[in-house]
Amino acid sequence: MVITMALYSEKVMDHFRNPRNVGVIENADGVGEVGNPVCGDIMKIYLKIDRDIVSDVKFETFGCGSAIASSSMATELIKGKPLSEALTLTNKAVTEALDGLPAHKLHCSVLAEEAIKKAVKDYYDKNGIAYDPALFPDCEHCAHCGE
Ligand code: FES
Repeated sequence: MVITMALYSEKVMDHFRNPRNVGVIENADGVGEVGNPVCGDIMKIYLKIDRDIVSDVKFETFGCGSAIASSSMATELIKGKPLSEALTLTNKAVTEALDGLPAHKLHCSVLAEEAIKKAVKDYYDKNGIAYDPALFPDCEHCAHCGE
């Protein structure tokens, strides 16, 4: 197992073993859930928004260690930040903050980026806040389902 562990940075192992911001926010202002149909992993992000600032964020991830570490790091990166910054968080930034992920695990960090975007969109939709749909390109294909 030493060989497998060496694939992961100290930061990945730290955030996997001691994930930050795990849990649920009751009455969250925005919730985003995404899944990867290939591996079956699911990530859910809860946001509390106070005057356009992410005042609190929590996550539930049913997935691999890299997905848990990515969720933990992503929530740390957007906590206390303006929504505009949360929206520009990329999976690349999450991966860099974790000091890298193995190539076959990069998709795990994509879940974090997508779940945060979806949670922000949910907040905008619930509050009737206008936005440019181009901000959420991944959601366009499912516009017909009313989500
Ligand atoms: Fe599916 Fe990591 S293997 S998110």
